[in-house]
Amino acid sequence: MKCIAVLTSGGDAPGMNAAIRAVVRTGLDRDWNVFGIRHGYLGLLTDDIVPLGARSVGGIIQQGGTILGSSRSPEFKTEEGRRKALQMLRQYQIDALIIIGGNGTQAGAYALSQMGYPVIGIASTIDNDLYGADITLGVDTALNVALEAIDRLKVTASSHQRAFLVEVMGKDCGYLALMAGIAGGAEAVIIPEVKTDPELVAAELRVAYRRGKAHALVVVAEGAEYNAERLARYFQQHRERLGFDLRVTTLGHVQRGGAPGAFDRLLGTRLGAAATGYLAQGDHGLLIGLLKGEIAATPLTEVATHKKSLDLGLLDLAGILAK
Ligand code: F6P
Repeated sequence: MKCIAVLTSGGDAPGMNAAIRAVVRTGLDRDWNVFGIRHGYLGLLTDDIVPLGARSVGGIIQQGGTILGSSRSPEFKTEEGRRKALQMLRQYQIDALIIIGGNGTQAGAYALSQMGYPVIGIASTIDNDLYGADITLGVDTALNVALEAIDRLKVTASSHQRAFLVEVMGKDCGYLALMAGIAGGAEAVIIPEVKTDPELVAAELRVAYRRGKAHALVVVAEGAEYNAERLARYFQQHRERLGFDLRVTTLGHVQRGGAPGAFDRLLGTRLGAAATGYLAQGDHGLLIGLLKGEIAATPLTEVATHKKSLDLGLLDLAGILAK
């Protein structure tokens, strides 16, 4: 191995910079040349490739986002686009690619690997919906950002005896909502994995008030059938009968923009270092992630064909704890 490249793709996640830094510095330590592909797979199609030295990644471990930039490239999803990308990698004499990102990104990594090119994926998304990692890079920081917002909303909700709805990200996965709901002490959690009856939500909140709670807070996942907009509309339409409405806060991209906490800085560093370690051993076609507390590798074939499941027992626990 003489030359590698690294890219970040899809939704950015806090800790990506720590992973880039570790890839670059451990790669240089092995006497490899390291390139950065800018703006995800798009940089491979537009020749946006820069050499990275130790100083190029100085002072970034504490920064959110990704210094390489990211994108979602429709062209790379086509076979022709991927062939063009491989040609670019050959032109730069890049022997292997480290690809940092979530589900869509790793589907691209798998496709390149199927075409015979050596790749290593690093599991990174705030959604925590990627098979092959118990906790993906960026989740911890995103959760803490959501919790800060929830804690603040509870203060004002209590002052006014109000009911609030907080929508968190997560695409079609309820992990962020469920964990934010448990750690934030929410009265109800609504996730895509479980069907929601808005009448039951209203009943739960009424019971919470009767028990003497000063506020009611519902955390809802953006991918739920009744997302914040739909649920708030339902409550508004039936306000007289239900007795109250829900004030809505949508956290959106705020959750992605946080500066990485200690957990994500360390996780990104370990994942980045492990990625070059696997390549040095001649291994590729793998996703590197945190599994049972250890940095572990899962074949991309397995990642592409399995869906990560959510522990729904935790939803029951959230209900019990809300009492
Ligand atoms: O996958 C990360 C994520 O933030 C999801 O939670 C969200 O649904 C999506 O990306 C938003 O994508 P975009 O930044 O392209 O709007």
